[in-house]
Amino acid sequence: MRSVVKGSGFVVGEHLVPNARFEKIMDTSDQWIRERSGIEQRYFVADGTSTSDLGARASKIAMEQAGVGPQDIDYVVFATMTPDHFFPGSGSIMQSKLGLRNIPALDIRQQCSGFVYALQVSDALLKAKVAKTLLLVGAETHSPFMPFSDWPTILGLADNAPTEEQRALHTAVRDRAVLFGDAGAAIVLQRDEEETERGLIDFELHADGSNYNKLYVPSGMAHRPYVSPEIIKQLDHVPHMDGKFVFRMAVTKMPEVVRSLLGRHGLTVDQIDHFIFHQANLRINEAVQQSLGIKPDRIYNNIQKYGNTTAATIPIAYDECRRSGRIKRGDLLCFVGLGAGFHWGAALLRD
Ligand code: UT7
Repeated sequence: MRSVVKGSGFVVGEHLVPNARFEKIMDTSDQWIRERSGIEQRYFVADGTSTSDLGARASKIAMEQAGVGPQDIDYVVFATMTPDHFFPGSGSIMQSKLGLRNIPALDIRQQCSGFVYALQVSDALLKAKVAKTLLLVGAETHSPFMPFSDWPTILGLADNAPTEEQRALHTAVRDRAVLFGDAGAAIVLQRDEEETERGLIDFELHADGSNYNKLYVPSGMAHRPYVSPEIIKQLDHVPHMDGKFVFRMAVTKMPEVVRSLLGRHGLTVDQIDHFIFHQANLRINEAVQQSLGIKPDRIYNNIQKYGNTTAATIPIAYDECRRSGRIKRGDLLCFVGLGAGFHWGAALLRD
């Protein structure tokens, strides 16, 4: 019995935002962003588009490819760190938007590792026969985190110069502002009782909360009230990030978990046809690739086009590789992610 991918799809926010757009509103440069992260552009949503909208749009594409309709889906697993609302989760909102039956809808919150965690949860639900045809979504709207005041200029709909005060505020968050993008991706997973080769094979997941405050949003229920003018003034409603710490975690833990997972299956790096890493920084992925000795044609990066879309990065890259024919039926894939929590992990799939 195996959980097999039957369809995949993704969408991005409506507005293309090239690096040059940030040069207008903060002290940064296209060159800095490219050199430090590899990112050339990202997409931000239009006003009114939420995470569940991106999830629903991506799901429709994945469902069409899988040849399944709303009546066939019997479980939703929705990975996001940017739900439409503080509560409820985005899964149930998307259930209604897609016209699915009153099936269970589960949100999971593992940030950049959301997709690999969601794969394990989904596989367990399918193998336990709780579900037969499951929709797994990774979707994010990061742009609302940013304390920008002139969104039309950011989105390319106007061309206003910021005040000095606005420029200083934008520059204060520049290390995070340039990294993230808005997008949604989905896959349809189905239990196949007869299958023994294709499908999800195994996972290795980890968490360590001891340094959670190296990448987190300080506001929240640890404060009463959870939001206040002081919190907003201190920018504690915006993600805080120790970029160098996250970088070091990624280049240490990602190779470690790959070696461990492959080792358990007696596999070498050369036996993996495609590595798909979370897209947080091209330099991170190049360092992990070197550390593991992965051949350049076995790894796929697309952060240049989309920035970091957390739970959506891996399924977007996966969908691009499937559609372009880069991944062929029967290929062995290894997904790897690390992010806030900290959570990290890897998954093996035979496509
Ligand atoms: O999925 C998990 C999410 N997060 C991550 O994966 C983040 C991982 N970390 C990183 O990607 C990198 O640490 C960053 C891209 C965030 C930063 O790159 P870095 O090479 O570690 O730069 P840095 O933090 O050491 O900053 C170097 C300089 C600083 O200026 P000073 O102190 O040397 O004067 C920063 O203020 O670069 C400055 N800087 C910027 N300059 C222009 C930071 N952000 C920017 C910016 N534009 N956007």
